[in-house]
Amino acid sequence: MRLTDCHNFHDFRRLAKSRLPGPIFNYIDGGADDEVTYRRNTSSFEECDLVPGVLRGVSDIDTSVTVLGQTLSLPVYCSPTALQRLFHHQGERAVAAAAGKVGTMFGVSSLGTVSLEEVRKISDGPQVYQFYFHKDRSLNAEMMARAKSAGVEVMMLTVDSITGGNRERDKRTGFAIPFRLNLAGITQFAAKPAWAINYLTHEPFRLPQLDRHVDMGSSALSISRYFTEMLEDSMNWDDVAEMVRLWDGPFCLKGIMSPDDAKRAVEVGCSGIVVSNHGGRQLDGSRASFDQLAEIIGAVGGRIDVMMDGGVQRGSHVLKALSLGAKAVGLGRYYLFPLAAAGQAGVDRALELMRLEIVRGMRLMGAKSIRELSPKNLRFRGCGPRV
Ligand code: LAC
Repeated sequence: MRLTDCHNFHDFRRLAKSRLPGPIFNYIDGGADDEVTYRRNTSSFEECDLVPGVLRGVSDIDTSVTVLGQTLSLPVYCSPTALQRLFHHQGERAVAAAAGKVGTMFGVSSLGTVSLEEVRKISDGPQVYQFYFHKDRSLNAEMMARAKSAGVEVMMLTVDSITGGNRERDKRTGFAIPFRLNLAGITQFAAKPAWAINYLTHEPFRLPQLDRHVDMGSSALSISRYFTEMLEDSMNWDDVAEMVRLWDGPFCLKGIMSPDDAKRAVEVGCSGIVVSNHGGRQLDGSRASFDQLAEIIGAVGGRIDVMMDGGVQRGSHVLKALSLGAKAVGLGRYYLFPLAAAGQAGVDRALELMRLEIVRGMRLMGAKSIRELSPKNLRFRGCGPRV
């Protein structure tokens, strides 16, 4: 199977699976507990149908949106995700370059494997810095200052990871950073020598956002232990208010699922929120992001920007979320599998396929611009016609 054989999410996932050692594939692919939320994130889009309009003159299609004060040429962005150089040696560099090329926003994680400063130089697109609130408050202050002076536009605080989700696939393989694997995991690495050679012949694995504060050399941490041991579980709304003041720019909370929390985010001065359950990797049984979107948009009433992520695999999924009023939609595994499959060429291809699906979908929906999409374009199964 080659990159040109990849026409959708499932193709990229299959190609990534054939290239990655099992523990790494399963780290990306897996969710928490029984992975119910992970599956629901995508299937919830299928319980909602699009109602197209016709005869509207759709020769010119404008896919641009403005979110958190940033103009994006596409209504999708690359959500911040961890450890990208484990998936392909180009890692964050490839994702930043691909996002810049299509004119959209991308995130760099606290657990990123290329420094936020270096990535800033790769793309002209707006850059998000994804922030975990650590017990070590000097680390928090330093990361905010570093992001500010590098010219990062948007600060995004993840609030759904106060303790580690129960990721049983990682437990089975022993996946940890830096690598520590159990015997079953090591056997799976040996089965992918091309990945191993590639990994070993490039610069050593680092976590440049954290390594001045965290000694990653002496002990291996599972992602779950990192969340549980390093993150501040007393974090509360006062801490957020303080961070909003300190950042003094577009500030967004990622991982909001309740309408009351969405209202609190408005009160403490956030510029936006991402309705997200961390791709089903934290609280299994949590509602699907798309199912929760309308209620949250209603609660916020246009006072701040609402985005969503989770389970997005198709342009039509994006159009459904935008029709409900999301300002932009985050992609995670959607670009990670292409990254693992083929580096930047993979991410370029995945984003181009997404762009084409959005443009085609808008034409078929009779929407020349994103603004023209509205809840009138949707019907939820089991609900009668709107009156
Ligand atoms: C994860 C974190 C690190 O889901 O975002 O693995």
